[in-house]
Amino acid sequence: WNEELKYLAEKYRLRVIEDNAQAIGAVSRVEGFNGTYKTGALGDAAAISFYPAKNLGALGDAGAITTNDTELADVIRALANYGSIEKYINVYQGVNSRMDELQAAFLSVKLKYLDKENRARRQVAIWYDKYLNHQDIIKPSIESPEGHVWHQYVIRTVRREELRSYLEKQGIPTMIHYPIPPHKQFCYHQYNDLDLPVSVLLSREVLSLPVSPVITESDVIEISSCIADF
Ligand SMILES: Cc1ncc(COP(=O)(O)O)c(C=O)c1O
Repeated sequence: WNEELKYLAEKYRLRVIEDNAQAIGAVSRVEGFNGTYKTGALGDAAAISFYPAKNLGALGDAGAITTNDTELADVIRALANYGSIEKYINVYQGVNSRMDELQAAFLSVKLKYLDKENRARRQVAIWYDKYLNHQDIIKPSIESPEGHVWHQYVIRTVRREELRSYLEKQGIPTMIHYPIPPHKQFCYHQYNDLDLPVSVLLSREVLSLPVSPVITESDVIEISSCIADF
């Protein structure tokens, strides 16, 4: 989010929807505004994922939308409830996407620990930054500590496949987020021929290393020394 995006949205009368699935708890310093904003409060609305592996994870699938627009909130609430505001009267063609109440109860408790767990994730990123060194690896920048909640710790390397299988043999799991850029997905066949070289390059080079609030300094030292021998 920056002034340019805001300008474009105003010029073309667009709504800005944030994907806050991996960023909950991150703090953004917005140019042109005073103070700081948490992600989820930057655009017209934001989607949050409470998928169990997320920074704030439920014990099953769940999600939420945040917005300051009360009219939009009413529409979204209706859309998630078969398009109905009043029982059995359907204003929109909606879906059943209400959050299960048990999940909501779990999340209410877990929410209290989100900032603490995000701090622990930030510490893991600091350790990686300190201990991980390899000439073929580009580490993510941790210049704005509050601006990142490290849902993933994503490195880049042109030797991605080789590194991934090497780590797997050492018992270190990694993931690729994501192997196919959206414009190359089958469901977006109309965009398949777009020339987006940066997206393609990143999809070939990214590798997510283990990160979670319970990873210790010695875990990071072990992973880093393993990578140093690669
Ligand atoms: C960046 C991003 N957006 C959206 C989603 C979708 O979230 P959900 O599976 O809860 O719908 C995910 C989940 O992996 C994600 O990482």
